[in-house]
Amino acid sequence: MTPSRYGLRYFSKFAAILTISQATLLSAALAQSSAQPWMNKSLSPSQRAELVLQQMTLDEKISLLHGNGMPSAPQWQMPLSHLGNGGAGYVEGVARLGIPPLVISDAAYGVRSSGENGRYSTALPSNLAAASSWDPNTACEYGALIGRELRDLGFNMTLGGGVNITRDPRNGRTFEYSGEDPLLAGTLVGNMMKCEQGEHVVGDIKHYAMNDQETGRNIVNVLASKKAMQESDLLAFHIAIDIAKPGAVMCSYNRVNGDFACENEYLLKSVLKQDWHFPGFVLSDWGGTHSTEKAIAAGLDQEQPMADYFGPKLKDAVEAGKVSVAEINDGARRVLYAEFASGIVDDPITKSVPDVEDGLEVARKIEAGSIVLLRNQNAVLPLDAASHGTIAIIGGHADVGMISGGGSAQVDPPGGNAIMPPGQGATHWQDHVWFPTSPLKALHEQMPHAALTFHDGHDLQSAVELAKKSDIAIVFAYQWESEGMDVPDLSLPENQDELIEQVAAANPHTIVVLETGTAVKMPWRDQVAGIVEAWYAGSNGHRALADVLTGAVNPSGKLPMTFPVSEADLPRTVIPPLSKEDEGQGTHAVNGEDHSLSSYSVTYDEGAEVGYKWYEAKQKPVLFPFGFGLSYTTYSYSALSLSSHGKTQNASFTITNKGQRSGTEIAQVYVSLPSSAGEPFKRLAGWQRVELKPGESKTITVSLDPRVMQVFDEAANHWKTLSGSYRVFAGSSSATTPLSAEFKQ
Ligand code: BGC
Repeated sequence: MTPSRYGLRYFSKFAAILTISQATLLSAALAQSSAQPWMNKSLSPSQRAELVLQQMTLDEKISLLHGNGMPSAPQWQMPLSHLGNGGAGYVEGVARLGIPPLVISDAAYGVRSSGENGRYSTALPSNLAAASSWDPNTACEYGALIGRELRDLGFNMTLGGGVNITRDPRNGRTFEYSGEDPLLAGTLVGNMMKCEQGEHVVGDIKHYAMNDQETGRNIVNVLASKKAMQESDLLAFHIAIDIAKPGAVMCSYNRVNGDFACENEYLLKSVLKQDWHFPGFVLSDWGGTHSTEKAIAAGLDQEQPMADYFGPKLKDAVEAGKVSVAEINDGARRVLYAEFASGIVDDPITKSVPDVEDGLEVARKIEAGSIVLLRNQNAVLPLDAASHGTIAIIGGHADVGMISGGGSAQVDPPGGNAIMPPGQGATHWQDHVWFPTSPLKALHEQMPHAALTFHDGHDLQSAVELAKKSDIAIVFAYQWESEGMDVPDLSLPENQDELIEQVAAANPHTIVVLETGTAVKMPWRDQVAGIVEAWYAGSNGHRALADVLTGAVNPSGKLPMTFPVSEADLPRTVIPPLSKEDEGQGTHAVNGEDHSLSSYSVTYDEGAEVGYKWYEAKQKPVLFPFGFGLSYTTYSYSALSLSSHGKTQNASFTITNKGQRSGTEIAQVYVSLPSSAGEPFKRLAGWQRVELKPGESKTITVSLDPRVMQVFDEAANHWKTLSGSYRVFAGSSSATTPLSAEFKQ
């Protein structure tokens, strides 16, 4: 309370009382801080963790090292599960010492509400969608919103932060991740989690590591060299962790080179804790713990969601001398560190009502910046908002809503699933969940004079007839993705290709709007006039889409992953199928099950050649390249020059807006290494978003990230810089780099 806020008269009248109560508070605080010196905020999180650890009993320490069940999962119930606030998990605190419990929720693209909780939270566009903005500030806003809503809903720890790179576009969780490039994904997820944790929730980065497919995820043994892992998936994790400094990292279900990720000494101890100096704790994915002694020795700190291995068995192991007190202390200290570092000790949760309007605004803005315009023949887009013409809106349930991504990321739509039988409000794990965000209605709001007619697309003949007599036909196509399963292939399901082909044949002004969680094949690409990738668009996606379709927003998104021509061009034409014995593995691992007997494995012998690097190295044409996206204006690139500043290499060049509209261009810089690296592909080394008015030119300087210009020396376990010539490329996508120059190192 300050005089300026409440007025001087008011202040002086109560000054004496305030002085007395302040003094009382101060002496109480002093008394508390001498009794509980870890409550002294001027100490570092590590010092505070150490001080409180010294006061804790063995039981209290062990209570920090395991969950207490998952409220919504019948198979995962424990006596304290009900305290989990209907979220994903609950870790008991130490009330007598002022250490709060961890109340944990999933929160990939918004706070997961688990259906039956009946809670509102904002669904942001999918993580992959937001990655199309290539914008660390957008990522920050994304994370901050989730952080605020987590706290409003009574949670102080998130399970977001998925940074597995898109090694296989059929991975059913592609929508939860940020694409195929380690620098892009790491930077965006890092900024998202930094700002989420900044709202005082314990941050998390997951699923560590190499969890790049969902098929057989509980059993699969991923075989990959250390060099390959370091230069691809682990690099993304390292970059994200460096930026976010999350309190927690979640280890994944799969095995890596023989050992489960949650008992993998190389991943947890050598890389994460020793080489990267990660000070927080490692928690297992739900049911991903398989042992007591082996797991704790390898670097697992917290079993989730149960206490099968890190509860009584852990205590027995300590008492039998099989697990040292030092190991217990290390785990407990890390959990405590995360609690202090994230601010949840000093700023306890107070439940509140999420700011719905603010959430919808943020969701709309982020989606508008995430939509990728893939094709725009003869400027079929933008639509004229003042048009009195006829527009056929076909398929994709565009009259009622837009689809969302499923699994533990699922955010519940207000009012329940838009395509569910009335009265059935709650959504379930395997439902296709549609948000009540109707593109038809949003377009109608923004084009009040146009005649919009909806056709569900089921009867091809009448859909074609409608398309024929309309000025423009917009086909809405979708593909549903969810955790626990991969998509069988990259085709649009349910005969949607046929629908698009027939409509396109009937109307030369056919536009396809895609609501997908990953890349899809487009056998009709050259027959349609326009293609717009809207991804899973979130709570206000329909309005953002209408903003882009009508030109109220000039699209600026660029693909964070390649769209290949077909599965035949992927490193593996099919995801290795499960054997008969391995089929029927649940979507969740169940504690205590011995999956180590399975011989199911996948070999990542493409190594670090992930995504665009693979297609370039193998000289395979693609449907749409990584980094690609059109605008309603065009840009030209000129005058590249290189310079160095100490150890930093910079690329400067000029971009000019050649069209009639203001726009934002995402200018990209790639670098290829000396030939001695034996890595015949470019790597993204930096980028910048540049806002340009019509006719305007700007010269920008992009620093090349040194981390992508090194190679990992497996024998020496360190990164090294090769001497030789480096070629730098600048342009609008990984495939269009009109400028290039060389430097020697
Ligand atoms: C998922 C995690 C999730 C956890 C808790 C697991 O199935 O892999 O991403 O955080 O469940 O819901």
